[in-house]
Amino acid sequence: MWSLLLFVIIGLIGSEISVDALNCTVRPKGSSKFPKTFKFGAASSAYQVEGAWNVDGKGPSIWDEYLHEHPDLVKDGSNADDSVESYRLFDSDLKALKELGVDHYRFSIAWPRIFPTGYVNSKNQKGIDYYNSVIDKLLANGIEPVVTIFHWELPVNMQKFGGFSNSFIVDHFVDYAEQLFSLFGDRVKTWLTINEPNEMCKFGFGNARVPPMIVAPGIGEYLCYTNLLKAHGATYRMYQEKFAEKQRGKIGIPCNVNYMFSNDSDVTNRGMDFEFGIIAHPILSKSGDLPPIVLHDIAKNSQEEGFKRSRLPSLGKYWTAIIQGSADFLALNYYTAGQIERPTGPVGAIPSFDRDNNLTSTPHAFENCPQASTYLRFVPEGLEALLKYIRDKYDNIEVKMTENGWSDSGGLDDYMRIEYVKNHLQAVLNAINDGCNVTSYAPWSLVDSFEFLNGYADKFGFYAVNMTSPNKERTPKKSARYYKKVIKTRKLNHKV
Ligand code: NOJ
Repeated sequence: MWSLLLFVIIGLIGSEISVDALNCTVRPKGSSKFPKTFKFGAASSAYQVEGAWNVDGKGPSIWDEYLHEHPDLVKDGSNADDSVESYRLFDSDLKALKELGVDHYRFSIAWPRIFPTGYVNSKNQKGIDYYNSVIDKLLANGIEPVVTIFHWELPVNMQKFGGFSNSFIVDHFVDYAEQLFSLFGDRVKTWLTINEPNEMCKFGFGNARVPPMIVAPGIGEYLCYTNLLKAHGATYRMYQEKFAEKQRGKIGIPCNVNYMFSNDSDVTNRGMDFEFGIIAHPILSKSGDLPPIVLHDIAKNSQEEGFKRSRLPSLGKYWTAIIQGSADFLALNYYTAGQIERPTGPVGAIPSFDRDNNLTSTPHAFENCPQASTYLRFVPEGLEALLKYIRDKYDNIEVKMTENGWSDSGGLDDYMRIEYVKNHLQAVLNAINDGCNVTSYAPWSLVDSFEFLNGYADKFGFYAVNMTSPNKERTPKKSARYYKKVIKTRKLNHKV
Protein backbone atom coordinates (compact mmCIF):
# COMPACT_ATOMS: atom_id res chain seq x y z
CA MET A 1 0.00 0.00 0.00
CA TRP A 2 2.82 2.44 0.95
CA SER A 3 4.65 1.75 -2.25
CA LEU A 4 1.44 2.43 -4.18
CA LEU A 5 0.98 5.78 -2.39
CA LEU A 6 4.61 6.74 -2.93
CA PHE A 7 4.23 5.81 -6.57
CA VAL A 8 1.11 7.95 -7.03
CA ILE A 9 2.76 10.96 -5.33
CA ILE A 10 5.90 10.62 -7.43
CA GLY A 11 3.69 10.38 -10.51
CA LEU A 12 1.84 13.57 -9.62
CA ILE A 13 4.90 15.71 -8.90
CA GLY A 14 7.07 14.19 -11.60
CA SER A 15 8.56 16.39 -14.32
CA GLU A 16 9.30 15.57 -18.00
CA ILE A 17 11.01 12.21 -18.46
CA SER A 18 14.75 12.31 -18.91
CA VAL A 19 17.35 9.64 -18.39
CA ASP A 20 18.32 11.21 -15.08
CA ALA A 21 14.82 11.82 -13.86
CA LEU A 22 12.78 8.72 -14.52
CA ASN A 23 9.74 8.89 -12.31
CA CYS A 24 8.10 5.49 -12.81
CA THR A 25 5.07 6.76 -14.65
CA VAL A 26 4.08 7.82 -18.16
CA ARG A 27 1.95 10.84 -18.97
CA PRO A 28 -0.75 10.55 -21.63
CA LYS A 29 0.21 12.04 -24.99
CA GLY A 30 -2.30 12.22 -27.84
CA SER A 31 -5.42 10.13 -28.32
CA SER A 32 -6.72 8.41 -25.20
CA LYS A 33 -8.30 5.54 -27.09
CA PHE A 34 -6.68 2.46 -28.62
CA PRO A 35 -7.31 2.06 -32.36
CA LYS A 36 -10.15 -0.28 -33.35
CA THR A 37 -7.70 -2.69 -34.92
CA PHE A 38 -5.65 -3.08 -31.71
CA LYS A 39 -6.01 -6.52 -30.10
CA PHE A 40 -6.03 -7.39 -26.40
CA GLY A 41 -5.12 -10.87 -25.13
CA ALA A 42 -3.66 -12.85 -22.26
CA ALA A 43 -0.70 -15.24 -22.02
CA SER A 44 0.56 -18.49 -20.47
CA SER A 45 2.96 -21.35 -21.18
CA ALA A 46 2.55 -25.12 -21.10
CA TYR A 47 4.94 -26.07 -18.30
CA GLN A 48 3.68 -23.26 -16.11
CA VAL A 49 -0.02 -24.17 -16.30
CA GLU A 50 -0.75 -27.61 -17.76
CA GLY A 51 0.39 -30.00 -15.03
CA ALA A 52 -0.21 -33.65 -16.10
CA TRP A 53 3.54 -33.93 -16.57
CA ASN A 54 3.40 -37.67 -17.29
CA VAL A 55 -0.25 -38.16 -18.16
CA ASP A 56 -1.62 -39.65 -21.42
CA GLY A 57 1.77 -40.52 -22.86
CA LYS A 58 3.60 -37.21 -22.33
CA GLY A 59 7.40 -37.54 -22.23
CA PRO A 60 9.66 -35.68 -19.79
CA SER A 61 11.08 -32.24 -20.45
CA ILE A 62 14.34 -30.91 -19.05
CA TRP A 63 12.34 -28.89 -16.48
CA ASP A 64 10.42 -31.98 -15.31
CA GLU A 65 13.61 -33.94 -14.96
CA TYR A 66 15.75 -31.29 -13.32
CA LEU A 67 13.21 -30.18 -10.74
CA HIS A 68 12.45 -33.76 -9.72
CA GLU A 69 16.09 -34.15 -8.80
CA HIS A 70 16.76 -30.62 -7.52
CA PRO A 71 13.70 -29.15 -5.80
CA ASP A 72 16.06 -26.76 -4.02
CA LEU A 73 16.43 -24.77 -7.25
CA VAL A 74 12.94 -23.33 -6.70
CA LYS A 75 12.14 -20.77 -3.97
CA ASP A 76 9.37 -22.88 -2.38
CA GLY A 77 10.76 -26.27 -3.41
CA SER A 78 7.83 -26.87 -5.76
CA ASN A 79 7.58 -28.00 -9.39
CA ALA A 80 4.93 -27.93 -12.10
CA ASP A 81 4.00 -31.64 -12.07
CA ASP A 82 0.39 -30.64 -11.39
CA SER A 83 0.49 -26.85 -11.42
CA VAL A 84 -2.94 -25.30 -12.04
CA GLU A 85 -3.95 -28.31 -14.14
CA SER A 86 -4.92 -26.56 -17.34
CA TYR A 87 -4.54 -29.92 -19.10
CA ARG A 88 -7.57 -31.13 -17.14
CA LEU A 89 -9.22 -27.78 -16.42
CA PHE A 90 -8.79 -25.82 -19.63
CA ASP A 91 -12.49 -24.97 -19.56
CA SER A 92 -11.89 -22.89 -16.42
CA ASP A 93 -9.22 -20.93 -18.26
CA LEU A 94 -11.58 -20.52 -21.19
CA LYS A 95 -14.25 -19.16 -18.87
CA ALA A 96 -11.78 -16.57 -17.56
CA LEU A 97 -10.76 -15.60 -21.09
CA LYS A 98 -14.39 -15.14 -22.08
CA GLU A 99 -15.10 -13.11 -18.96
CA LEU A 100 -12.24 -10.76 -19.81
CA GLY A 101 -13.39 -10.51 -23.40
CA VAL A 102 -9.94 -11.02 -24.93
CA ASP A 103 -9.30 -11.16 -28.66
CA HIS A 104 -6.55 -13.76 -28.39
CA TYR A 105 -4.87 -16.23 -26.06
CA ARG A 106 -1.16 -16.95 -26.14
CA PHE A 107 -0.23 -20.46 -24.97
CA SER A 108 2.57 -22.87 -25.78
CA ILE A 109 2.67 -26.43 -27.01
CA ALA A 110 4.77 -28.77 -24.90
CA TRP A 111 7.03 -30.53 -27.39
CA PRO A 112 7.25 -33.77 -25.29
CA ARG A 113 3.47 -33.89 -24.89
CA ILE A 114 3.06 -34.57 -28.58
CA PHE A 115 6.46 -36.10 -29.34
CA PRO A 116 7.47 -37.84 -26.10
CA THR A 117 11.02 -38.58 -27.26
CA GLY A 118 11.39 -35.29 -29.08
CA TYR A 119 11.82 -37.11 -32.40
CA VAL A 120 8.85 -36.80 -34.72
CA ASN A 121 8.53 -40.56 -35.09
CA SER A 122 7.11 -40.70 -31.55
CA LYS A 123 3.73 -39.06 -32.14
CA ASN A 124 1.36 -39.05 -29.14
CA GLN A 125 -2.21 -38.74 -30.36
CA LYS A 126 -3.65 -37.84 -26.94
CA GLY A 127 -1.38 -34.81 -26.74
CA ILE A 128 -2.42 -33.78 -30.22
CA ASP A 129 -6.08 -34.22 -29.26
CA TYR A 130 -5.59 -31.92 -26.28
CA TYR A 131 -4.19 -29.05 -28.35
CA ASN A 132 -6.82 -29.59 -31.04
CA SER A 133 -9.49 -29.21 -28.42
CA VAL A 134 -7.87 -26.05 -26.94
CA ILE A 135 -7.62 -24.48 -30.39
CA ASP A 136 -11.16 -25.46 -31.39
CA LYS A 137 -12.69 -24.21 -28.13
CA LEU A 138 -10.89 -20.89 -28.42
CA LEU A 139 -12.04 -20.41 -31.98
CA ALA A 140 -15.59 -21.43 -31.18
CA ASN A 141 -15.58 -18.58 -28.65
CA GLY A 142 -14.14 -16.02 -31.00
CA ILE A 143 -10.66 -16.06 -29.39
CA GLU A 144 -7.65 -16.31 -31.67
CA PRO A 145 -5.05 -18.94 -30.64
CA VAL A 146 -1.53 -17.47 -30.61
CA VAL A 147 0.83 -20.40 -30.27
CA THR A 148 4.35 -20.48 -28.91
CA ILE A 149 6.14 -23.41 -30.51
CA PHE A 150 8.76 -23.62 -27.78
CA HIS A 151 8.57 -22.12 -24.28
CA TRP A 152 11.58 -24.03 -22.86
CA GLU A 153 9.84 -27.45 -22.59
CA LEU A 154 12.75 -29.28 -24.27
CA PRO A 155 12.33 -33.08 -24.46
CA VAL A 156 15.00 -34.75 -22.33
CA ASN A 157 16.32 -36.70 -25.32
CA MET A 158 17.17 -33.49 -27.15
CA GLN A 159 19.34 -32.36 -24.24
CA LYS A 160 21.28 -35.66 -24.26
CA PHE A 161 23.14 -34.28 -27.24
CA GLY A 162 23.49 -30.79 -25.85
CA GLY A 163 20.11 -29.30 -26.79
CA PHE A 164 20.53 -25.80 -28.14
CA SER A 165 24.31 -25.93 -27.77
CA ASN A 166 24.50 -28.57 -30.55
CA SER A 167 23.62 -27.67 -34.12
CA PHE A 168 21.76 -30.97 -34.42
CA ILE A 169 18.86 -29.18 -32.70
CA VAL A 170 18.22 -27.11 -35.82
CA ASP A 171 16.87 -29.98 -37.93
CA HIS A 172 14.93 -31.52 -35.06
CA PHE A 173 13.33 -28.19 -34.18
CA VAL A 174 12.33 -27.66 -37.80
CA ASP A 175 10.88 -31.20 -37.96
CA TYR A 176 8.86 -30.52 -34.82
CA ALA A 177 7.61 -27.14 -36.09
CA GLU A 178 6.68 -28.69 -39.43
CA GLN A 179 4.44 -31.16 -37.63
CA LEU A 180 2.78 -28.33 -35.71
CA PHE A 181 2.08 -26.42 -38.90
CA SER A 182 0.57 -29.45 -40.56
CA LEU A 183 -1.46 -30.48 -37.51
CA PHE A 184 -2.74 -27.08 -36.39
CA GLY A 185 -1.85 -24.51 -39.06
CA ASP A 186 -5.26 -24.72 -40.71
CA ARG A 187 -6.55 -22.87 -37.62
CA VAL A 188 -3.49 -21.21 -36.02
CA LYS A 189 -2.42 -18.08 -37.88
CA THR A 190 0.00 -16.53 -35.41
CA TRP A 191 3.09 -18.53 -34.43
CA LEU A 192 5.87 -17.62 -32.01
CA THR A 193 9.00 -19.73 -32.45
CA ILE A 194 11.28 -19.70 -29.39
CA ASN A 195 10.46 -17.84 -26.18
CA GLU A 196 12.95 -15.35 -24.73
CA PRO A 197 16.33 -16.24 -26.24
CA ASN A 198 18.12 -14.16 -23.59
CA GLU A 199 16.71 -16.01 -20.61
CA MET A 200 17.19 -19.36 -22.25
CA CYS A 201 20.73 -18.88 -23.56
CA LYS A 202 22.29 -16.76 -20.83
CA PHE A 203 20.77 -18.53 -17.86
CA GLY A 204 20.66 -22.03 -19.34
CA PHE A 205 24.06 -22.20 -21.04
CA GLY A 206 26.20 -19.47 -19.45
CA ASN A 207 25.84 -19.36 -15.72
CA ALA A 208 23.60 -22.35 -14.92
CA ARG A 209 20.64 -20.64 -13.35
CA VAL A 210 17.99 -22.68 -15.17
CA PRO A 211 17.91 -26.10 -16.87
CA PRO A 212 19.89 -27.42 -18.66
CA MET A 213 22.19 -25.79 -16.07
CA ILE A 214 25.28 -25.59 -18.25
CA VAL A 215 28.21 -23.62 -16.86
CA ALA A 216 30.07 -22.37 -19.91
CA PRO A 217 30.27 -18.59 -19.67
CA GLY A 218 31.36 -16.76 -22.79
CA ILE A 219 30.88 -19.86 -24.95
CA GLY A 220 27.67 -21.70 -24.07
CA GLU A 221 25.46 -18.61 -24.48
CA TYR A 222 26.84 -17.99 -27.96
CA LEU A 223 26.42 -21.58 -29.15
CA CYS A 224 22.84 -21.38 -27.94
CA TYR A 225 22.15 -18.01 -29.60
CA THR A 226 23.64 -19.22 -32.88
CA ASN A 227 21.68 -22.49 -33.02
CA LEU A 228 18.52 -20.76 -31.86
CA LEU A 229 18.79 -18.18 -34.65
CA LYS A 230 19.34 -20.96 -37.17
CA ALA A 231 16.39 -23.00 -35.84
CA HIS A 232 14.17 -19.92 -35.98
CA GLY A 233 15.30 -18.89 -39.47
CA ALA A 234 15.06 -22.38 -40.94
CA THR A 235 11.57 -22.79 -39.45
CA TYR A 236 10.46 -19.54 -41.05
CA ARG A 237 11.81 -20.58 -44.46
CA MET A 238 10.22 -24.03 -44.21
CA TYR A 239 6.85 -22.39 -43.43
CA GLN A 240 7.19 -20.07 -46.43
CA GLU A 241 8.08 -22.97 -48.68
CA LYS A 242 5.51 -25.51 -47.55
CA PHE A 243 2.62 -23.78 -45.78
CA ALA A 244 2.44 -20.01 -46.24
CA GLU A 245 0.50 -19.95 -49.47
CA LYS A 246 -2.26 -22.17 -48.13
CA GLN A 247 -2.32 -21.26 -44.45
CA ARG A 248 -1.40 -17.55 -44.62
CA GLY A 249 -0.07 -17.44 -41.06
CA LYS A 250 2.50 -15.08 -39.55
CA ILE A 251 5.62 -15.95 -37.60
CA GLY A 252 7.62 -14.01 -35.01
CA ILE A 253 10.09 -14.61 -32.17
CA PRO A 254 9.30 -13.43 -28.63
CA CYS A 255 12.23 -11.36 -27.33
CA ASN A 256 12.44 -10.14 -23.76
CA VAL A 257 14.08 -6.75 -23.70
CA ASN A 258 14.99 -4.45 -20.84
CA TYR A 259 15.41 -0.99 -22.34
CA MET A 260 18.91 0.18 -21.39
CA PHE A 261 18.83 3.76 -20.13
CA SER A 262 22.08 5.70 -19.91
CA ASN A 263 23.24 9.30 -20.05
CA ASP A 264 25.43 8.41 -22.99
CA SER A 265 23.76 7.30 -26.23
CA ASP A 266 26.79 5.19 -27.23
CA VAL A 267 26.41 3.27 -24.00
CA THR A 268 22.69 2.75 -24.61
CA ASN A 269 23.38 1.57 -28.16
CA ARG A 270 26.02 -0.87 -26.98
CA GLY A 271 23.77 -2.12 -24.18
CA MET A 272 20.88 -2.58 -26.59
CA ASP A 273 23.02 -4.47 -29.11
CA PHE A 274 24.18 -6.94 -26.47
CA GLU A 275 20.72 -7.16 -24.85
CA PHE A 276 18.56 -7.29 -27.97
CA GLY A 277 20.62 -6.88 -31.14
CA ILE A 278 22.13 -10.38 -30.89
CA ILE A 279 18.70 -11.68 -31.90
CA ALA A 280 17.10 -8.64 -33.54
CA HIS A 281 19.96 -7.56 -35.83
CA PRO A 282 20.32 -10.88 -37.70
CA ILE A 283 16.54 -11.11 -38.18
CA LEU A 284 15.38 -7.52 -38.61
CA SER A 285 18.26 -5.33 -39.79
CA LYS A 286 18.95 -4.41 -43.40
CA SER A 287 22.53 -5.70 -43.21
CA GLY A 288 21.81 -9.00 -41.41
CA ASP A 289 24.20 -11.05 -39.23
CA LEU A 290 25.14 -10.17 -35.66
CA PRO A 291 25.59 -6.50 -34.68
CA PRO A 292 29.02 -5.26 -35.86
CA ILE A 293 30.03 -4.10 -32.36
CA VAL A 294 29.20 -7.52 -30.89
CA LEU A 295 31.15 -9.37 -33.60
CA HIS A 296 34.10 -7.02 -33.33
CA ASP A 297 34.44 -6.95 -29.55
CA ILE A 298 33.97 -10.67 -29.01
CA ALA A 299 36.52 -11.43 -31.74
CA LYS A 300 38.97 -9.01 -30.14
CA ASN A 301 38.46 -10.38 -26.63
CA SER A 302 38.75 -13.97 -27.90
CA GLN A 303 42.09 -13.17 -29.55
CA GLU A 304 43.43 -11.43 -26.45
CA GLU A 305 42.36 -14.42 -24.37
CA GLY A 306 44.37 -16.76 -26.61
CA PHE A 307 41.50 -18.41 -28.48
CA LYS A 308 42.25 -19.37 -32.08
CA ARG A 309 38.91 -18.11 -33.29
CA SER A 310 36.09 -15.89 -32.08
CA ARG A 311 33.80 -17.34 -29.45
CA LEU A 312 30.93 -15.80 -31.44
CA PRO A 313 31.76 -15.85 -35.13
CA SER A 314 29.71 -14.29 -37.91
CA LEU A 315 26.72 -16.38 -38.98
CA GLY A 316 28.23 -16.60 -42.46
CA LYS A 317 26.65 -15.87 -45.83
CA TYR A 318 24.42 -18.93 -46.02
CA TRP A 319 22.80 -18.55 -42.60
CA THR A 320 22.70 -14.76 -42.74
CA ALA A 321 20.52 -15.02 -45.83
CA ILE A 322 18.20 -17.56 -44.19
CA ILE A 323 17.84 -15.63 -40.96
CA GLN A 324 17.59 -12.11 -42.37
CA GLY A 325 13.93 -11.10 -42.73
CA SER A 326 12.70 -14.26 -41.01
CA ALA A 327 9.92 -12.57 -39.03
CA ASP A 328 6.59 -11.08 -40.04
CA PHE A 329 6.46 -9.13 -36.76
CA LEU A 330 8.44 -8.72 -33.57
CA ALA A 331 6.95 -10.38 -30.49
CA LEU A 332 7.98 -8.36 -27.47
CA ASN A 333 8.09 -9.23 -23.78
CA TYR A 334 8.73 -6.21 -21.58
CA TYR A 335 8.83 -6.18 -17.80
CA THR A 336 11.39 -3.64 -16.65
CA ALA A 337 14.33 -1.45 -17.68
CA GLY A 338 18.05 -1.34 -17.01
CA GLN A 339 20.31 1.63 -16.33
CA ILE A 340 23.89 1.20 -17.43
CA GLU A 341 27.23 2.96 -17.60
CA ARG A 342 30.81 2.36 -18.68
CA PRO A 343 32.75 0.37 -16.12
CA THR A 344 35.64 1.97 -14.24
CA GLY A 345 37.69 -1.25 -14.23
CA PRO A 346 37.68 -4.78 -15.70
CA VAL A 347 34.29 -6.53 -15.71
CA GLY A 348 33.50 -10.26 -15.64
CA ALA A 349 35.48 -13.48 -15.72
CA ILE A 350 37.66 -14.49 -18.70
CA PRO A 351 35.84 -15.43 -20.86
CA SER A 352 32.28 -14.34 -20.15
CA PHE A 353 29.30 -12.52 -21.57
CA ASP A 354 29.75 -9.85 -18.89
CA ARG A 355 33.32 -9.19 -19.99
CA ASP A 356 32.26 -9.01 -23.63
CA ASN A 357 29.33 -6.73 -22.81
CA ASN A 358 31.67 -4.53 -20.77
CA LEU A 359 29.01 -2.39 -19.09
CA THR A 360 27.87 -2.12 -15.51
CA SER A 361 24.52 -1.44 -13.94
CA THR A 362 24.21 2.02 -12.45
CA PRO A 363 24.10 1.67 -8.66
CA HIS A 364 20.73 2.48 -7.12
CA ALA A 365 19.02 2.57 -10.53
CA PHE A 366 15.23 3.08 -10.29
CA GLU A 367 15.38 3.10 -6.52
CA ASN A 368 12.29 5.30 -6.41
CA CYS A 369 10.27 2.99 -8.59
CA PRO A 370 8.23 0.30 -6.83
CA GLN A 371 9.81 -3.15 -6.67
CA ALA A 372 7.68 -6.20 -7.45
CA SER A 373 7.94 -9.39 -5.41
CA THR A 374 10.34 -10.70 -8.08
CA TYR A 375 13.18 -9.19 -10.13
CA LEU A 376 11.27 -6.33 -11.69
CA ARG A 377 10.83 -2.65 -10.98
CA PHE A 378 8.01 -0.46 -12.18
CA VAL A 379 9.57 1.48 -15.11
CA PRO A 380 6.92 2.06 -17.80
CA GLU A 381 9.04 4.79 -19.44
CA GLY A 382 11.32 1.96 -20.52
CA LEU A 383 8.55 0.46 -22.63
CA GLU A 384 7.78 3.73 -24.42
CA ALA A 385 11.48 4.30 -25.07
CA LEU A 386 11.91 0.72 -26.29
CA LEU A 387 9.01 0.91 -28.73
CA LYS A 388 10.45 4.10 -30.21
CA TYR A 389 13.89 2.49 -30.39
CA ILE A 390 12.40 -0.44 -32.34
CA ARG A 391 10.47 1.96 -34.63
CA ASP A 392 13.64 3.87 -35.47
CA LYS A 393 16.14 1.03 -35.59
CA TYR A 394 14.12 -1.73 -37.25
CA ASP A 395 12.08 0.08 -39.87
CA ASN A 396 8.93 0.31 -37.77
CA ILE A 397 8.33 -3.44 -37.86
CA GLU A 398 4.96 -4.54 -36.48
CA VAL A 399 5.24 -5.23 -32.74
CA LYS A 400 2.94 -7.64 -30.93
CA MET A 401 3.39 -7.42 -27.18
CA THR A 402 3.36 -11.01 -26.02
CA GLU A 403 4.15 -10.43 -22.31
CA ASN A 404 4.13 -7.69 -19.68
CA GLY A 405 3.23 -8.16 -16.05
CA TRP A 406 3.66 -7.51 -12.35
CA SER A 407 4.28 -10.04 -9.57
CA ASP A 408 3.10 -9.90 -5.98
CA SER A 409 2.68 -12.42 -3.23
CA GLY A 410 -1.06 -12.89 -3.67
CA GLY A 411 -4.44 -11.39 -2.83
CA LEU A 412 -7.44 -10.28 -4.83
CA ASP A 413 -6.99 -6.51 -4.23
CA ASP A 414 -4.04 -6.19 -6.59
CA TYR A 415 -3.99 -2.43 -7.09
CA MET A 416 -0.31 -2.34 -8.02
CA ARG A 417 -0.99 -4.73 -10.91
CA ILE A 418 -3.69 -2.36 -12.11
CA GLU A 419 -1.29 0.60 -11.94
CA TYR A 420 1.35 -1.43 -13.75
CA VAL A 421 -0.96 -2.51 -16.58
CA LYS A 422 -2.43 0.97 -16.87
CA ASN A 423 0.96 2.69 -17.09
CA HIS A 424 2.39 0.15 -19.51
CA LEU A 425 -0.67 0.35 -21.73
CA GLN A 426 -0.32 4.14 -21.59
CA ALA A 427 3.27 3.70 -22.78
CA VAL A 428 1.99 1.55 -25.66
CA LEU A 429 -0.70 4.10 -26.52
CA ASN A 430 1.79 7.00 -26.43
CA ALA A 431 4.07 5.02 -28.73
CA ILE A 432 1.19 4.31 -31.13
CA ASN A 433 0.26 8.01 -31.07
CA ASP A 434 3.87 8.65 -31.98
CA GLY A 435 3.80 6.40 -35.06
CA CYS A 436 4.96 3.07 -33.58
CA ASN A 437 3.41 0.02 -35.22
CA VAL A 438 2.20 -1.82 -32.11
CA THR A 439 -0.84 -3.95 -32.85
CA SER A 440 -1.54 -6.10 -29.80
CA TYR A 441 -0.95 -6.61 -26.08
CA ALA A 442 -1.06 -9.84 -24.06
CA PRO A 443 -0.28 -9.37 -20.38
CA TRP A 444 1.39 -12.04 -18.31
CA SER A 445 -0.57 -13.86 -17.14
CA LEU A 446 -4.12 -15.13 -17.29
CA VAL A 447 -4.00 -17.10 -14.03
CA ASP A 448 -1.47 -17.44 -11.21
CA SER A 449 0.82 -20.31 -12.17
CA PHE A 450 4.24 -21.88 -11.67
CA GLU A 451 6.74 -19.02 -11.91
CA PHE A 452 9.85 -21.14 -12.64
CA LEU A 453 12.52 -20.36 -10.01
CA ASN A 454 9.93 -18.61 -7.81
CA GLY A 455 7.53 -21.55 -7.80
CA TYR A 456 4.05 -20.59 -6.58
CA ALA A 457 5.32 -17.97 -4.13
CA ASP A 458 5.14 -15.13 -6.64
CA LYS A 459 2.04 -14.48 -8.67
CA PHE A 460 1.52 -12.74 -11.99
CA GLY A 461 -2.11 -13.70 -12.68
CA PHE A 462 -5.31 -11.72 -13.22
CA TYR A 463 -7.05 -14.72 -11.69
CA ALA A 464 -6.16 -16.38 -8.39
CA VAL A 465 -6.24 -20.18 -8.27
CA ASN A 466 -7.43 -22.17 -5.29
CA MET A 467 -4.59 -24.67 -5.14
CA THR A 468 -6.10 -26.75 -2.35
CA SER A 469 -9.49 -27.37 -3.91
CA PRO A 470 -9.93 -30.39 -6.25
CA ASN A 471 -11.09 -28.20 -9.12
CA LYS A 472 -8.64 -25.39 -8.55
CA GLU A 473 -11.24 -22.68 -9.13
CA ARG A 474 -10.09 -19.45 -10.77
CA THR A 475 -11.25 -16.22 -9.08
CA PRO A 476 -10.96 -12.82 -10.74
CA LYS A 477 -8.75 -10.28 -8.97
CA LYS A 478 -9.43 -6.52 -9.13
CA SER A 479 -6.98 -6.38 -12.05
CA ALA A 480 -9.20 -8.73 -14.07
CA ARG A 481 -12.13 -6.34 -13.53
CA TYR A 482 -9.95 -3.42 -14.61
CA TYR A 483 -8.57 -5.16 -17.71
CA LYS A 484 -12.05 -6.23 -18.77
CA LYS A 485 -13.13 -2.58 -18.77
CA VAL A 486 -10.07 -1.58 -20.76
CA ILE A 487 -10.84 -4.21 -23.38
CA LYS A 488 -14.45 -3.14 -23.59
CA THR A 489 -13.86 0.62 -23.83
CA ARG A 490 -10.31 0.72 -25.32
CA LYS A 491 -9.57 3.39 -22.71
CA LEU A 492 -7.47 3.27 -19.56
CA ASN A 493 -9.15 5.31 -16.83
CA HIS A 494 -11.52 3.14 -14.85
CA LYS A 495 -12.41 2.69 -11.23
CA VAL A 496 -12.65 -0.88 -9.88
C1 NOJ B 1 8.99 -14.44 -19.05
C2 NOJ B 1 8.64 -15.84 -19.35
O1 NOJ B 1 8.38 -16.01 -20.72
C3 NOJ B 1 7.51 -16.39 -18.50
O2 NOJ B 1 7.54 -17.77 -18.63
C4 NOJ B 1 7.64 -15.92 -17.08
O3 NOJ B 1 6.71 -16.49 -16.22
C5 NOJ B 1 7.55 -14.41 -17.06
N1 NOJ B 1 8.66 -13.88 -17.80
C6 NOJ B 1 7.52 -13.75 -15.69
O4 NOJ B 1 8.78 -13.81 -15.09
